[in-house]
Amino acid sequence: MRTPLLFIAVVGVFCPSATLAAQTPVEQRITALIARMTLAEKLGQLNLPTYDPSANQADLARRGLAGGFLNLVGPDATRDMQKTAVEQSRLHIPLLLGLDVIHGYRTTFPIPLAEASAWDPGLAEATAKSAAREARAGGINWTFAPMVDIARDPRWGRIAEGSGEDPYLGSVLAAARVRGFQTYIMATAKHFAAYGGAEAGREYNTVDVSERTMREVYLPPFKAAVDAGVGSLMSAFNEIAGVPSSANPWLTNTVLRHEWGFNGFVVSDYTSIAELKAHGIAASLTDAGRQALTAGVDMDMVASIYVDSLPALVRAGKIPMTVVDEAVRRILRAKFRLGLFDDPYRAMPPVDPDTALARRAARESIVLLKNDSSLLPIASTVKSIAVIGPLAADTVDPLGPWAGLGRPGDVVSVLGGIKQRVPSGVMVLTAAGTGVTDGDTTGIANAVATAQQADLTVLVLGEADSMSGEASSRAWPNFPGAQERLEQAIVATGKPVVLVVMSGRPLILSWSAEHVPAIVQTWFLGDQAGHAIADVLFGDVNPSGRLPVTFPRSVGQIPIYYAEKSTGRPAAPGQHYTSKYLDMPNSPLYPFGYGLSYTTFAYRDLKVHNTALHGTDTLVVSVTVTNAGTRAGTDVAQLYVRDDVGSVTRPLRQLKGFQRVELGPGASQTVEFRVPVQQLGLWNQAMKYVVEPGTFHVYAGSSSTADLAGTFEVVSRP
Ligand code: BGC
Repeated sequence: MRTPLLFIAVVGVFCPSATLAAQTPVEQRITALIARMTLAEKLGQLNLPTYDPSANQADLARRGLAGGFLNLVGPDATRDMQKTAVEQSRLHIPLLLGLDVIHGYRTTFPIPLAEASAWDPGLAEATAKSAAREARAGGINWTFAPMVDIARDPRWGRIAEGSGEDPYLGSVLAAARVRGFQTYIMATAKHFAAYGGAEAGREYNTVDVSERTMREVYLPPFKAAVDAGVGSLMSAFNEIAGVPSSANPWLTNTVLRHEWGFNGFVVSDYTSIAELKAHGIAASLTDAGRQALTAGVDMDMVASIYVDSLPALVRAGKIPMTVVDEAVRRILRAKFRLGLFDDPYRAMPPVDPDTALARRAARESIVLLKNDSSLLPIASTVKSIAVIGPLAADTVDPLGPWAGLGRPGDVVSVLGGIKQRVPSGVMVLTAAGTGVTDGDTTGIANAVATAQQADLTVLVLGEADSMSGEASSRAWPNFPGAQERLEQAIVATGKPVVLVVMSGRPLILSWSAEHVPAIVQTWFLGDQAGHAIADVLFGDVNPSGRLPVTFPRSVGQIPIYYAEKSTGRPAAPGQHYTSKYLDMPNSPLYPFGYGLSYTTFAYRDLKVHNTALHGTDTLVVSVTVTNAGTRAGTDVAQLYVRDDVGSVTRPLRQLKGFQRVELGPGASQTVEFRVPVQQLGLWNQAMKYVVEPGTFHVYAGSSSTADLAGTFEVVSRP
């Protein structure tokens, strides 16, 4: 067995003009290989077809016309294809074998947005590592993950695949997931860039954000992935201010390669190169290919334009050979780094599913949104429980979107989890009431009758797994079908109701927040969903999840996020001409960072240890957290910073640190945050990153609305 792959910089930064003698041995081997390649073989390395069992794709591998495949799975099929490439092709170049291992290969962990609710980079690294280990045993050497797109619009279905709205949390988790995946296979940070900024939350839609917003909000998680050594990036489907991301030299060449020094490769998203025609910047597929390649998109996923249409352009001198060679070099470099030239198969024996890790991840991902009169955990006086709702007994939807090779047969439903956990003598009744998406209300009466027979109802509502993920935007993110009717009818019984929400996005929960005493946000938790939910409902686990994204009161508030600006007329009660709505508050239903526990936490003694800082200093802030209740619990202590006056406007708050703090009843801990002053900068009017002298506020507590505050001053630039 090989030791886990480490993405160490074995080749150094490639400089096209470097002489052969100045190159590292690996770069010299790449140079020699490129010198032996025909143009067709070069463009073949840049071609990534999707596996098609009806086509003779072994022939592509044999002729060196594919650099890899996506969606070819299983140890035997991947081995056969790899064997063809390395034994029968002229130059014996191994293949990249890629798959969307997003939140699991066979063992399915919570969707990334759920896992982001744990605010636990160690957990994110562990699940990515476990998924990569399984994938590698299945013959995969490359995943199209992590998805690091910042998303502030719950209408967008792919919000499910990322870490939510915040660039700091997103960056920490991006780096953790890259480390986890790359223990065994190569990772891809996607979708470069600003895909989550789609107008109106509509999939694939136009993005028009300023360079400052790009640099402050959308790009940091990509930078973090690059700094963590990610092997590849995927270009996005969307345009940014008129320039599609799959043919955007500023993004790919200027920022990614030049500024950040990235020397891995960029793969297009699916047919995004062909789509340059529909975007209206290319008159033909050939021209689309030319634009993408010269903009720095090295590998053409699915569209087959590079290999089919570019040879004539290269021969005619319309694309310099140096551009082709450079792209080929990046692909070959990735293959060397993966170790494929030494051992193309990189086989590892299969492993048993890590159900313990999947259960831990699912537990940590659950966010308790409301718990009036301590309805949860379920009291021992409850002798009968009705588990109601279309998702109650479901074993398909908890897998969530992009569930890889996950199987419903591995999933524990909420009903299954509760049935296994209830104390003996407690009766469990069940009724679906409605379907997930259809409008049929005929089952509601039976569901109501069932609820009436029980002491307490666990009502499991939400979305189908296919309602989030790609091409799954929703203009109205509510409980679909007849579920709201069911909810109202169950609440009208007057029995205590615990609402368990399954979704790939924040849903609009305003009615529920007003009428249902307890609400548990569970997202899509994967295989162990039912067990993890039962663990929380019965109090075996004290919920510790915190929202990685703001929950709006209404669709009309979208986009809504905590790191907003002041405006020139901040909302002021009773003052008409201020920035607010006539028909609802500006505040969200549940803010970023929010989540309840079965205990309560108190914050005191916020100390800023160095109140006059120089540019190279590190800000040190401490705060004491006390578990003021009677149960052990975990809080996520959060630190926010505000730059009081800048040369450009600043967000009212920005997350700059967080720590999970586990405390027994009555226990206290002093948490210390360390923030390098260098991280308190801004992109000024000349679009230079600078730390500006001036005063700042810090806030610490258990959500983005934390009010314990302190101040400090940056007295000189770095
Ligand atoms: C998605 C990518 C994914 C690719 C390959 C595309 O449609 O946007 O995220 O990696 O398909 O499956």
